[in-house]
Amino acid sequence: THNTHTISILPTALPSPSTPTECCPEGWIGYQRKCYYFSDSDRNWTYSQNYCASFNASLVVIDSQEEMIFLRRYKGHFDHWIGLQRMNDQEPWKWINGTIFNKSFEIRGGGTGAYLNHQGVASGTSGSEERWICSKPVGK
Ligand SMILES: *[C@@H]1O[C@H](CO)[C@@H](O)[C@H](O)[C@H]1NC(C)=O
Ligand SMILES: *[C@@H]1O[C@H](CO)[C@@H](O)[C@H](O)[C@H]1NC(C)=O
Ligand SMILES: *[C@@H]1O[C@H](CO)[C@@H](O)[C@H](O)[C@H]1NC(C)=O
Ligand SMILES: *[C@@H]1O[C@H](CO)[C@@H](O)[C@H](O)[C@H]1NC(C)=O
Repeated sequence: THNTHTISILPTALPSPSTPTECCPEGWIGYQRKCYYFSDSDRNWTYSQNYCASFNASLVVIDSQEEMIFLRRYKGHFDHWIGLQRMNDQEPWKWINGTIFNKSFEIRGGGTGAYLNHQGVASGTSGSEERWICSKPVGK
């Protein structure tokens, strides 16, 4: 639809035109089978995850390349925390549910929390503050 053009200009402002959003909380965006929240403020990884948990969601879990493309399109110019963390740079990255990350994309840097940036995925220390993205299945 014609909305596609508007979305590329205002990446965080509008709901996806192709998916009904009535199953997502107010202000969240529906895409395929998930609801997403893109924050307007910057917090550390732990605060961001707790914020998501208060909506029965988590920092975003990325299950496909298509989903990655959607997130990169909507995040605008800002770095956003995602749902991958590790104890230290010797430990494996884990998703929010505890599953070890299978390295389907590269995570740059030596930090303990992962975020999307303009190049791909990078990592920061637990105290650094970024915007964040929450996700949860539609209807949960
Ligand atoms: C989160 O889930 C619990 C248990 O299913 C429910 O009681 C609560 O209302 C949900 N909270 C939100 C914000 O959806
Ligand atoms: C790695 O995980 C992603 C999503 O979590 C999945 O799409 C992909 O097939 C997995 N790759 C391997 C090699 O298991
Ligand atoms: C945990 O989340 C990842 C990413 O969505 C997924 O690939 C994996 O299957 C999940 N593990 C379990 C036990 O649900
Ligand atoms: C994360 O931020 C919260 C408040 O926004 C603060 O209480 C907490 O100490 C911070 N954690 C780290 C590791 O900086």
